[in-house]
This record gives sequence, C-alpha cells and structure tokens, in this order.
Amino acid sequence: MADLQKYGPWALVIGGSEGVGAAFARLLAADGFKLVLVARKPEPLETLAAELRELGAEVRVLSADLSQPAVLSQVRAVTDDIEVGLLVYNAGANNTRGLFVELPEEVTQSVIAINVLGQANFARHYGALMAARGRGGIILGGSLSSYLGSPTLAAYTGSKAFSRIFSESLWAEMAPLGVDVLHLNIGFTATPAMARLGMPVELAEPPETVAREGLENIANGPVWIVSTPGNIERARLISTVDNRAQTVRTHAIAPRDKTAEAARAQQKLAGESSK
Ligand SMILES: NC(=O)c1ccc[n+]([C@@H]2O[C@H](COP(=O)([O-])OP(=O)(O)OC[C@H]3O[C@@H](n4cnc5c(N)ncnc54)[C@H](OP(=O)(O)O)[C@@H]3O)[C@@H](O)[C@H]2O)c1
Repeated sequence: MADLQKYGPWALVIGGSEGVGAAFARLLAADGFKLVLVARKPEPLETLAAELRELGAEVRVLSADLSQPAVLSQVRAVTDDIEVGLLVYNAGANNTRGLFVELPEEVTQSVIAINVLGQANFARHYGALMAARGRGGIILGGSLSSYLGSPTLAAYTGSKAFSRIFSESLWAEMAPLGVDVLHLNIGFTATPAMARLGMPVELAEPPETVAREGLENIANGPVWIVSTPGNIERARLISTVDNRAQTVRTHAIAPRDKTAEAARAQQKLAGESSK
C-alpha cells in the first residue's frame, strides 16, 4: 500500500505506540518498512516493537516527551544514522478542557508545543533531508476541529488550524522537491486516549481505517478528510467564511458528556446529504 521505494526504508512514527500511530506502524511493517516508534510510556512501545519484530520488521523505539524542547535532539540521536523517508507525526490529542485563561499554563503550552512547534520542527528537520534526496512523505496529524474554534478547546483547535494551513503551504513547497505532504484530517476515532477519557468509542472510527486512508492518500494532499460518515459534511458546514459568530455558537465541539449525541447527529447529517 505504501510505496517503499518512495517513502522508505525507515518510517518515523511520532506517537507510535497505540491507536492510530500503532495502526500506521502495523501497516508499514507489513509493507516492508523499518520503523522508529516514539511515545512516552516504554511498555506499550516495547510490546508493539516485539509484535512487529515477530513479523520480521526492524524496529527502534524511543521513550520521549514531545512537549519538552529537547525532544527533536533525542529523536535525532536514534535516527541520524538511518534514512527516514516517511514521517508520521500522529500524537497531539487534547485531554484537558477548560477556559484558556483558567487552565494551567503548562497544559496549553504542552498542546501548542506538541501540535505547533513539534509538527513544524520535525517537518523541517526530516523534510530537509527528504528534499535533499528528492523523495519522501510527511503525514501530519490533523483534526476536523481545525475548521472551527470551540470554547474550552482554544489551544487545541488553534493548533490544529495551524497544522492544516502549515501542511497546505508545506505541500506546495515540497511537491516540486519530490516530497508528499498530507494533513490527515481525523474525526472521532476509537483510540485508547479517547477511551481513557470515557468517550463512547463504540460510535467512533477504528484507528486502522484512519491509518489506512492516510497511507492510501499520502500523495493526495494537502488535506485528506477521513471518510467517517458525516466528516466531510461537517467540515463543509463549519468552514464557511460568512457569519463566523453564528457558526461558532451553533457548531462548537460538544462537551464530553454530549459526545455520543454529537456523533449520532453527524451520522444523521451524512445520511441526509446522501439522499
Ligand atoms: N481520537 C480522536 O477522536 C481524534 C479526533 C480528531 C483528531 N485526532 C488526532 O489524532 C491523533 C491521535 O490521537 P489519539 O486519540 O490517538 O491520542 P494521542 O494522545 O494524540 O496519540 C496517542 C499516541 O501518542 C503518544 N503521545 C501522546 N502524548 C505524547 C507526548 N507528550 N509525547 C510523546 N508521545 C505522546 C501516545 O503514547 P504515550 O501516551 O505513551 O506518550 C500514543 O502513542 C492526534 O493528533 C489527535 O489530535 C484524534
């Protein structure tokens, strides 16, 4: 599915121990890629690495925190001697909601560090090496929330908007250099991170579908909206230019206890537009 000649031999998966990141790693290993997996908790990293090595893949793991300024140097220490042809920057979910002026500074700074500085710094470093080789791919973890500001999610929605627009620019700059760039625009997905927050993941997209669509559409950038029913319809609805006040008031991301209701409403929206 993913072209080893164009995007190999090594893939670097940031946030590659569970959920969408683990799904990317499994698919890439099956396609013959060697993998570098980065996340904080060592155990899930080691468990996944062992599974992939059983399948014959060469795997390096690194436990590191993306919110820390030294993280790129840490990752470079395990990648400077290899050719990373594919960067998947997956990590970036938001686990703490609240008013921007009331949340502890470290919470919002961490979201911005991971989703803005992290995506930019990793894309810059690995993208430059890919450009020099004239081939490669960069997938940046995105979100439907990039189309709309929502109360209690100011840093998160703003950072995902950065990712989407940044990806579009990077896509245009890198295409003539032979490097594909994709903002993988994800809707509600059944990841362990969401399950830990108590979200109704039975209504969500499986991570495998999200990763598969990312790899299948890496050359179809700059933005790929995952085909979960209602995602494209919601993106159209909330990305209008006119009357933003009304759009933000009406369509802001639902509070967590209303997520099931919102997921069902989105499926209904998909059903109505297909009639
Ligand atoms: N799930 C959804 O419904 C949804 C919806 C829209 C967009 N997205 C996007 O999809 C991507 C994946 O989301 P997700 O739900 O799987 O949760 P996530 O927490 O963003 O990703 C999980 C992976 O990232 C690692 N990770 C998280 N924080 C890290 C940190 N500070 N440093 C290093 N590694 C870190 C996790 O391992 P450790 O915890 O061990 O570090 C795990 O491997 C994110 O970019 C998110 O914004 C998800």
